[in-house]
Amino acid sequence: MAWLGWSLGLLALLGGVAAFLYWQLIIAEGAYLGRRVVTWLYDASAHAYDNIKAFQPTYEEMLLARPLRQKLALSGFTDPLVLDVATGTARLPYGLFRYTQYPGRVIGLDLSRKMLVEALPKCQPWADRLTFIWQDASELPFPDDIFDAVACLEALEFMPDPDRVLRELARVLRPGGILLTTNRIGKTARWMPGRTHSAQALEEKLQALEMEMIRIRPWQVDYEMVWAIKPGVRRAVGLRALDEVLRCPRCHAPVSRDGDRYGCEQGHAFAVSAEGILEMASVRQEA
Ligand SMILES: C[S@@+](CC[C@H](N)C(=O)[O-])C[C@H]1O[C@@H](n2cnc3c(N)ncnc32)[C@H](O)[C@@H]1O
Repeated sequence: MAWLGWSLGLLALLGGVAAFLYWQLIIAEGAYLGRRVVTWLYDASAHAYDNIKAFQPTYEEMLLARPLRQKLALSGFTDPLVLDVATGTARLPYGLFRYTQYPGRVIGLDLSRKMLVEALPKCQPWADRLTFIWQDASELPFPDDIFDAVACLEALEFMPDPDRVLRELARVLRPGGILLTTNRIGKTARWMPGRTHSAQALEEKLQALEMEMIRIRPWQVDYEMVWAIKPGVRRAVGLRALDEVLRCPRCHAPVSRDGDRYGCEQGHAFAVSAEGILEMASVRQEA
């Protein structure tokens, strides 16, 4: 009967390993295993992402793109500059341009290069006003107080340090600017301790960042939608050239373009890929 005991033990062990992997890779999407694993998982699933999510155009228009467009218009931002952090396959930029006659410019930033490659063809009609940057969200390559709106949807919980990313989102938002993010809820949220919050805890974090008019609303099964405003006087400054808003991801100095590369005066350089993606995640020191 010893073999029965061994077999049951082995089965229990395999079941435990399978449950652990399911938790780490499927529910938490690699969040506790580091940004390389998260990125690897998104790279691997990038091609299937839109099909898996099955976004409904009506909901994307009514619940996401139009509310942001209306808030930008009400705030007097006529040619807005919007940053979408962890843009993925460009859900938000696509929605803004496709459904709202959005007149401004959008920068979409993500650490999965393959997600950005998937985003490119569907956003081709608006390529002159949409830029994709391959870069980590915890080091946003922009000066303070620059964007009229900053979004980060369904992504904070996958970051190694979500609080740091929240601080970065608030930093680059201009006074009077609009923050739009999400709060993971539902059954799976409790399996991500340290990465998810109660609505009240998130509100307190945003208050600590001096954000105002914080509104946390039901949105999807797994996410609440979070709106807030950075206090200060609204000042619409219109469209800005990309070079004006970019900073070196290493040293934060201004950068300038020279052909298919950008560089700063400290000698840090990064390429613009053939598809047009700014590859800041692979910045290098030039001689
Ligand atoms: C669930 S997807 C959300 C994508 C998009 N915002 C949406 O709503 O469809 C999460 C995204 O976060 C990105 N991401 C995860 N960690 C990141 C990091 N440290 N920096 C930038 N992007 C990151 C992933 O590559 C992925 O595209």
